[in-house]
Amino acid sequence: MELKTLLNIKHSIIMAPMFLVTNTKMILAADKCGISGCLPAHNFRNIAEFRKAIKELKDNCKHSFGVNVIVNRSNFFLKEQMKCILDFQISYIITSLGSPKNIIFECKKNNILVFGDVVDEIHAKKVQDMGGDAVIAVNNQAGGHLGQLSAQVLIPRLKSCVNIPVISAGGVATKAGFDAMMKLGAAGISVGSPFIACLESDVSIHYKNACVNYGAKDIVVTKKISGTPCTVIKTPYVDKIGTKQNVLEAFLNTNKRLKKIAKFFITYKGFSLLKKAAFGANYRQVWVAGESIEYVDKIRPISEIVERLIK
Ligand SMILES: Cc1cc2nc3c(=O)[nH]c(=O)nc-3n(C[C@H](O)[C@H](O)[C@H](O)COP(=O)(O)O)c2cc1C
Repeated sequence: MELKTLLNIKHSIIMAPMFLVTNTKMILAADKCGISGCLPAHNFRNIAEFRKAIKELKDNCKHSFGVNVIVNRSNFFLKEQMKCILDFQISYIITSLGSPKNIIFECKKNNILVFGDVVDEIHAKKVQDMGGDAVIAVNNQAGGHLGQLSAQVLIPRLKSCVNIPVISAGGVATKAGFDAMMKLGAAGISVGSPFIACLESDVSIHYKNACVNYGAKDIVVTKKISGTPCTVIKTPYVDKIGTKQNVLEAFLNTNKRLKKIAKFFITYKGFSLLKKAAFGANYRQVWVAGESIEYVDKIRPISEIVERLIK
């Protein structure tokens, strides 16, 4: 089934959830263009703010919008976020970083669709067996936490092992790219990086300009932020600090007993760094983005970015 049928939208496109970047203005603009926006629950400091944002979207979106939840143990607010999602009957959830088993169980009872982020067949089958409604196939061109396989390899592989829709994430910014994914058998696409430099986002002008001025060749993969490979722009600061974890971080990351607690602190430190870089003007420029910023030529309204994807 095509994504547009599943979500009752005009084009089979999700504006992907982006930590620090996606806000309610962007979701409302996406809604107006006939695509569906997905809001990361972790972009809000507390549940009251999250609830307020969801209410605003529920009151103003004409079509379906989604929420992205982190489903592993690092998310202390998962229970309250889920309560809010159930209270407002959100159309769909994208789960990341962990097993969506309990979430799917809760959502099934309440007619909320669940799409699981996956990077290979093993995880895709798991999502299907748990009752998930679609998988987001994160490929090796995706911004943020990327996969290892190209879309050309990943989509056919997933199509051959699951019956649920396969939504492609990574590397698409144009109609030609969109068409290519659909030709490979994708039900739709989830697009992030091309939307970072949109007018509606609240990130700093420096972050937006970086998306305009840097290109695909400037994207590097770093383990510095969370221990998990993540794409960032190779700014002079990123170049200076390198992309590998230091000896202590690497040791903690592989030590079975200390791994969980270490990951928590490393991620906390990494996220604070990202937050300061996304909204401020300091020299520690660590900006998450994927190769598809290659197509970003200026700061544009979401309507123009969508136009490029569909025309
Ligand atoms: C700045 C940025 C932040 C992201 N934050 C999240 C997030 O919070 N949750 C998530 O599931 N994926 C996140 N992603 C991944 C996107 O949802 C999506 O998979 C990816 O952007 C697709 O690749 P593209 O950037 O080439 O379009 C992020 C990506 C970017 C670029």
